[in-house]
Amino acid sequence: MSEAKRLAAEKALEYVEDGMIVGVGTGSTVAYFIDGLARIKHRIKGTVSSSEQSTAQLKSHGIEVMELNHTGNLSLYVDGADECDGNKCLIKGGGAALTREKIIAEASERFVCIIDPSKQVPVLGRFPLPVEVIPMARSLIARRILDMTGGQPAWREGVVTDNGNVILDIHHLQITDPVKLERELNQLPGVVSVGLFARRPADVVIVGGEPPRVF
Ligand code: 5RP
Repeated sequence: MSEAKRLAAEKALEYVEDGMIVGVGTGSTVAYFIDGLARIKHRIKGTVSSSEQSTAQLKSHGIEVMELNHTGNLSLYVDGADECDGNKCLIKGGGAALTREKIIAEASERFVCIIDPSKQVPVLGRFPLPVEVIPMARSLIARRILDMTGGQPAWREGVVTDNGNVILDIHHLQITDPVKLERELNQLPGVVSVGLFARRPADVVIVGGEPPRVF
């Protein structure tokens, strides 16, 4: 699948225009995008990064990383996903970077999602849904999630997010109404963010292949 990821990332470079500040996601697919961005770094103004991991890779290429508070809205955000349905709704957060990813997606006019074909699903939920929570609310939220969704929450032990929080992964969901589930989970006190990108889905999805498929 790594070749498919690379091909999707290469295709996404076509969306980068001169003088842009580019929002950059997190993960192994985005790592290929950052490598590609390094080749055209002289054409862009800078980047906004969604994780310490991506920041380190961007800086290693000499690409400027800027603060979202200083840039205003972004024209373009490029990120991967763990699952994608036919409406471009996504599950993200396999790399625990969902909150910053969601902030940058919200700030961006165009969200280009780059995936390999294995990420495409008819109904979201095969991949456990990540939820970032404030540490003291972990058990409370796990109980609420069980009652509300019937899904099985599991604490991603040993993982602390870039924001100092923890992750619950909800297993065994069949997410037929992702906008509703995202809204409901977001309302629980102690939830920082939900790895469902449905209220603000991707605008363009690139599925890596020879040739890449864009929808
Ligand atoms: C990180 C993410 C990633 O985009 C997602 O996990 C996909 O990763 P990869 O490109 O390595 O398959 O949401 O929080």
